[in-house]
Amino acid sequence: MVVNITRDGDIAVVTVDNPPVNALGQALRQGLWDAVATLDAAADVRAVVLICAGRTFIAGADVTEFGKPPVPPHLPDLVDRIEGAAKPWVAAIHGSALGGGLEVAMGCRFRVALESAALGLPEVGLGIVPGASGTVRTPRLVGVAAAVDLVTTGRPVKAERARAMGLVDAVVTGDLRSAAVAFARTAREAPLPLPVSARPVTAPDAVWWEDQRVAIAARAKGELAPLRALDCLRVAAERPFAEALAHERATFLALRGSDQAAALRHIFFAERAAPRPAHVTAAPRPLRSAVVVGGGVRGAGLASALRSAGLSVVLVADDDAAVLRGPQTGGPSAGAMAELIGDADLVIVAAEAPVATPAVLDRLGGMCRADAILAVPSGAGDPHRTAEPVPIPARVLGLNLFGPTAGVALLEIVPTPATGPDTLATGFALARALGRTPVQTGLGGGSIGHRLRRRTRAAAEDLIRQGLAPATVDAAMRAYGFALGPFEAWDGSDPVHVGAMPGQGTPGRADLSDADIAARLTAAMAEEGRALLAEGIALRSSDIDLVAVHGHGYPRWRGGPMFEAGRQVL
Ligand code: 3HC
Repeated sequence: MVVNITRDGDIAVVTVDNPPVNALGQALRQGLWDAVATLDAAADVRAVVLICAGRTFIAGADVTEFGKPPVPPHLPDLVDRIEGAAKPWVAAIHGSALGGGLEVAMGCRFRVALESAALGLPEVGLGIVPGASGTVRTPRLVGVAAAVDLVTTGRPVKAERARAMGLVDAVVTGDLRSAAVAFARTAREAPLPLPVSARPVTAPDAVWWEDQRVAIAARAKGELAPLRALDCLRVAAERPFAEALAHERATFLALRGSDQAAALRHIFFAERAAPRPAHVTAAPRPLRSAVVVGGGVRGAGLASALRSAGLSVVLVADDDAAVLRGPQTGGPSAGAMAELIGDADLVIVAAEAPVATPAVLDRLGGMCRADAILAVPSGAGDPHRTAEPVPIPARVLGLNLFGPTAGVALLEIVPTPATGPDTLATGFALARALGRTPVQTGLGGGSIGHRLRRRTRAAAEDLIRQGLAPATVDAAMRAYGFALGPFEAWDGSDPVHVGAMPGQGTPGRADLSDADIAARLTAAMAEEGRALLAEGIALRSSDIDLVAVHGHGYPRWRGGPMFEAGRQVL
């Protein structure tokens, strides 16, 4: 049963149990719909606690239903029904109350949350707006400004902040169920507050709304949902509740069927599938300690991310790593370095050439404990080659971290033919610990990330040869939604065919619009993606999209080159 009703004296406890995240699929909506009737009819029930089993409160509508026609009971009707129940409902929140989950909680008369809980309306991240009164009830609960922030950014807030803004009534510690039952009992001693839909809302003036629009448009860079969400919030602040609800629902249904929403759903599921590929079945090795060798800012960022993940970490500066190239004056001795390296479960070479020469990698491999994992950036040394001389090649893995800082969301995992299954599984576990999306990439001719970058560069240089200025190409790609143009994004790691570039070119000589330029470059990326799949370097086309989105600033709401190319074929 997805909905179970138990009793604690005169308080009923409705427990939702719909793993993994209690998403509001049809069966759950129906179960809650029926629970309202059952409990309204139970004369000795004074209040109802709504709580969830498992790791989280209701995490939202069931995204897998989004491609299909809506089936009753519809979520907005369910939220109204809970709000209109004869007995007050109290939402007891742990984990995350997101999207439809928070909307259900706002239909309840009260909300209590564990300190560790988070609440939010992340719908814009899926290319939609909240579709069950999120844009209409939230401003009535927390005011318009806070509602605009919550809805248009999609960022969740932690429980204490939610309490400060009025989104929850109490933050509790210890056993959530007993705390919520006690809260419900006390609440029944006082007059009930108004249901959220009946609360007043103060509408800001037109200038305020215009300022919001300008700021959000600048952030959205072509993404539709945040601006449509702002429209909904304005209607909610200025028009009666029922009218605003109808406007929100119409917007939600229109966006749900949009290309942007389909693209964002594709990335949502690709990100969730990425950490658990079917072929990675071995248990990961335990990781308690790590040595990060060199890498400047990138190495330091990585070391701090590993520390946050709970590992004890030693960072060897590039200068000190020089001892690996041979005897040095100053810095640690080779013996001290060997001892340090020999202690670690994981040795990550973050240094690039000239520190990470093949000879250095060989020496490092010799210093690693027999059961340690040696991770090498495939951009620096070939993990293939590194695997040869080390005592246990099965423990060598290529890892590519994109970008210079820890803020980048991608980790490319590059097994060599000798990499053991547990080493590979550890690479995926490491990505989880670092909070990065892992993508496995094969060897031979460069990783997915490097190949996509090189191909985009080559296609961009072609355009320069046809007379376009680099700045024109960059601007066209930014207009398409890329974070940076190909010439701005170039970090010096790939060779540029300088001889082939005529320098500044003559703007406009090749008669190409911004859209033509973007079409050329994204088509080149898709073509390279098809080659990567054919060569077995990429295992799934969605992995290529993830690398493009997280590694190369491809607009998330376009879904990546493979997704876009696939749609053109359909
Ligand atoms: N619908 C369907 N499946 C979902 C889902 C959802 N809303 N949210 C998560 N899942 C699935 C994932 O696909 C994954 O499935 P798998 O195990 O088969 O791969 C599983 O649940 C676990 O997900 P995570 O790996 O992400 O689990 P975490 O514990 O790391 O994170 C979470 C949990 C924070 C709840 C995270 O899953 C999340 O952020 N989910 C999305 C929440 C969301 O966007 N909600 C809004 C939906 S839109 C909406 O509600 C519209 C409404 O306004 C009408």
